[in-house]
Amino acid sequence: MTENIIKTVKIQNIINECDGIKTYIFNMKKSNPNNYVIPKPGQFVMVWVPGVDEIPMSLSGCNNKGDWAITVKKVGDCTKEIHNLKIGDYIGIRGPLGNYFKIPVEQSKKIILISGGIGIAPLKFLATYLNNRRISFDLIKGTKSNNEIIFANDFQQFNHDTSNIIYCTEIDNDMFEDSTRVAFYNSKFEELAHTRFEALINEYLQNNISDFIVFTCGPEIMMYKVFQICQKYQFELYASLERYMRCGCGLCGLCALDPLGLLVCKDGPIFSSESLKNIQDFGKFQRDPTGKKVSID
Ligand SMILES: Cc1cc2nc3c(=O)[nH]c(=O)nc-3n(C[C@H](O)[C@H](O)[C@H](O)COP(=O)(O)OP(=O)(O)OC[C@H]3O[C@@H](n4cnc5c(N)ncnc54)[C@H](O)[C@@H]3O)c2cc1C
Ligand code: FES
Repeated sequence: MTENIIKTVKIQNIINECDGIKTYIFNMKKSNPNNYVIPKPGQFVMVWVPGVDEIPMSLSGCNNKGDWAITVKKVGDCTKEIHNLKIGDYIGIRGPLGNYFKIPVEQSKKIILISGGIGIAPLKFLATYLNNRRISFDLIKGTKSNNEIIFANDFQQFNHDTSNIIYCTEIDNDMFEDSTRVAFYNSKFEELAHTRFEALINEYLQNNISDFIVFTCGPEIMMYKVFQICQKYQFELYASLERYMRCGCGLCGLCALDPLGLLVCKDGPIFSSESLKNIQDFGKFQRDPTGKKVSID
């Protein structure tokens, strides 16, 4: 499994998405031409910052040249260190790891993506994949406030006949100075992402569209609410879970979910509604870095 060998890569580009969130682009094909593995939307990598830590990051993009992207929110020691890196600096990358979002073969299913906060990272990769194949979808993108909205420029380049991007913010501060963001203002709501989700499906149901497949990534409380809505209407759901990780490849057990013992790094990070129904930890508990169970708030 070459995916589990750390490759040292040079940072080619850094994009300042908003205050506290940056995207890093590096090439994985050049560093590993013979065993290059094309990643799929939903997969993650372990990012090694020498002398600091190795942490999981979803892939937010990948192109045909082998350029991969990660989008990093600054929250603690390692992400702070990543934010200090410059173009030309090196990081260690292990991956692609984990499972991926499975796109239905039948095009009749209505695809809905729901993100909260930095959970947009893997869903941006998925949305780009769908857009490139002209598969239609709705993306509900939830953030706390307008100034945390990222990727608006990328989404504006999408085919508007097949993609519908809906922005939801909890606080409506007047930060729409950027013309791209203004362009999207007509699909902007001041409500929680899962509330908008239920309103959207009700609009579809009134128009006799009832076959949905839902993909979500974000705060677990939000994903749990999305799960409850999907259970109520019997929709197929795939949620990308986050847990502290150490090995990232099924060895240490830190990312185990009770009571089944499923591992987020190996069996996930994406779990179907069928699995989520049986994961008692989902929406309630996670393990801290010592392995102790703590409630999710
Ligand atoms: C599969 C997967 C994909 C991820 N994708 C992304 C991504 O695309 N972009 C991104 O910015 N982050 C992502 N994360 C989260 C990221 O790994 C953590 O934010 C990172 O490990 C924090 O490291 P740190 O040393 O900066 O912070 P730490 O010093 O370790 O922690 C700072 C604070 O962040 C919180 N925290 C850190 N890690 C976790 C965790 N795993 N679960 C819950 N709370 C945590 C804790 O509350 C802690 O107080 C992902 C995590 C997983 C498991
Ligand atoms: S992180 Fe070690 S088993 Fe998942």
